[in-house]
Amino acid sequence: MSTAYGPDEIAALQEKAKRHLWLHFTRMSSYADSEVPVIVRGEGAYVYDQHGKRYLDGLAGLFVSQIGHGRTEVAEAGARQASELAYFPLWSYAHPQAIALADRLANLAPGDLNRVFFTTSGSEAVESAWKLAKQYFRTIGQPSRYKVLSRAIAYHGTSMGALAITGLPGIKEPFEPLPPGGVRVPNTNFYRAPAFVADDITAFGVWAADEIENAILREGPESVAAVFLEPCQNSGGCFPPPPGYFPRVREICDQYGVLLVSDEVICAFGRLGYYFGAERYGYQPDIVTFAKGVTSGYAPLGGMLVTDRLMEPFTRGQQSPAHVDTHGQERHLEGPGATFLHGVTFAGHPVSCAVAMANLDVFEKENLLGNVRSNEGAFRSSLEKLADLPIVGDVRGDGYFYGIELVKDKSTRQTFDDDESERLLRGFLSHALFDAGLICRADDRGDPVIQLSPPLICTQEHFDEMEQILRSVLTEAWRRV
Ligand SMILES: Cc1ncc(COP(=O)(O)O)c(C=O)c1O
Repeated sequence: MSTAYGPDEIAALQEKAKRHLWLHFTRMSSYADSEVPVIVRGEGAYVYDQHGKRYLDGLAGLFVSQIGHGRTEVAEAGARQASELAYFPLWSYAHPQAIALADRLANLAPGDLNRVFFTTSGSEAVESAWKLAKQYFRTIGQPSRYKVLSRAIAYHGTSMGALAITGLPGIKEPFEPLPPGGVRVPNTNFYRAPAFVADDITAFGVWAADEIENAILREGPESVAAVFLEPCQNSGGCFPPPPGYFPRVREICDQYGVLLVSDEVICAFGRLGYYFGAERYGYQPDIVTFAKGVTSGYAPLGGMLVTDRLMEPFTRGQQSPAHVDTHGQERHLEGPGATFLHGVTFAGHPVSCAVAMANLDVFEKENLLGNVRSNEGAFRSSLEKLADLPIVGDVRGDGYFYGIELVKDKSTRQTFDDDESERLLRGFLSHALFDAGLICRADDRGDPVIQLSPPLICTQEHFDEMEQILRSVLTEAWRRV
């Protein structure tokens, strides 16, 4: 099927896009003299632009399109649900698709993460997890716990609460003051580990986890509600957890009564070869936040999975403190049960839940987790071939989730300064990779990295294509440094 638009159609799209559309996290002025990229169709691991040009979707859109593009069975599941019941809220009511999906997710999730609270996005999921942590502690008589720890450079979303948890000063600064209580701990970038643990990744992991304990003690344990961590940290370029990190974090959280929130907005639904990233790294969270891959982007959906323990105060009738009745007996009065005072109109939308069910059917039918597990080694090897280039400092990640850190001097690991990074990433790499037919992310929110997170259907031919495009574009980038 041809996807090329005619010249008049393209001109009209460009004119309207430039006049009316506001792209997210995008310097709009950069399109003053150049074309806005318009993606019109997708099939499998590829998408097509308005000119009919094909691109390998090496980022699964935005860490989203796990099953790839153009799956009519998933689209049809959404259409069927829209005809039957397009919308009803989860405020006091339920609908069959939300029930079925909650049941399915609870069965897939590790341990007793048995309760699902749906949202529409990852930021809302993170926001909901913080609100739940605060209200939970209030309900069980620990109202002073409200602070949240997260790693420097980690991205946890953009709404005000989620932004307070995000560890990227550059995208927070215009919105200060943010809700109080966001506290940073060191990230887990072994490539740039402090010298005293730079030779020992296990010691590095224990040090990074112990820094969480130090932060809890500094802040006052009675004031800390939760620690938010991604299984494999995205921002900064895919940092897998060092060995020993999560077991020690779990121990610390248990010791100080702090909740461990695994922010799996990217890492769930096969990205790391498991339904949940916590399973891959063998730890048990109290809350898992998810979005993106749960629907592979065929409709928007997010949510959090919560343990029975956290749900418990919200399932029982609230008891008043004991009092002695007129017969001299000690009694508790049953009051109204606690209500989680939070909700979102479109959360758990019937169409999105139906789409998520169909998406998970594809996971099962095509054994996508198996595909990632059996091919991740080949993916890593293909990317590691690039280590012979002088600009490639580090290749890291797990599953189908990789970052390639770019350096100015490989032997000293010297990074690029802000101007060089601006010229390299925005001035050259982003456009050059796109022009060469690869969608990926060139990011300098931490040190400059290229990130890859392809659909889970990808195999060696796609890895080779990525490696070849990256090799030629990075070789040219080095010539320009
Ligand atoms: C770990 C993590 N948390 C939260 C978010 C926010 O998700 P959303 O963009 O759906 O609000 C993201 C988005 O990329 C993310 O990577």
